[in-house]
Amino acid sequence: MSEIKKRLSSILESPKHNTEEKLQKVCHLLDQEISYFNWTGFYFKNGDKDELKLGPYVGAPTDHTIIPYGKGICGQVAVSNETFVVPDVHQESNYLSCSIDTKAEIVVPIFKDGQNIGQIDIDSHTVDPFTAEDRELLEWLCNEVSKIL
Ligand code: SME
Repeated sequence: MSEIKKRLSSILESPKHNTEEKLQKVCHLLDQEISYFNWTGFYFKNGDKDELKLGPYVGAPTDHTIIPYGKGICGQVAVSNETFVVPDVHQESNYLSCSIDTKAEIVVPIFKDGQNIGQIDIDSHTVDPFTAEDRELLEWLCNEVSKIL
């Protein structure tokens, strides 16, 4: 297992912190370790509403604290159930801008008992920065996060 996965696992397994604190620490670790991750956060389904609510994050405050299903990259992943990698956000018509600095975005869904219950969202200030390894890491992470929810 890679070093970063070990560190993420130890955060998620820590008995000292509640779920919110663990997710906050996960955001901090990714933000610190991967230079082109410039906003890292979680969104979760808001109760029984078809909308996402912002959870723990690291990065500039965003206006998008609630995102209706279908809107933006995040809202599309809430209904597609698939990872969405956007190398250049300016090429996307259904995109919600958080910061003029954001150039690229990756959103990975989180499933619990087969239901799409949330996602991790990463913005980058670099065009086309995300590698196949990043995607694999984030998909692995979302599977691990799901186990503590
Ligand atoms: N850009 C996202 C909105 C969330 S912010 O990036 C934090 C989207 O299009 O859904």
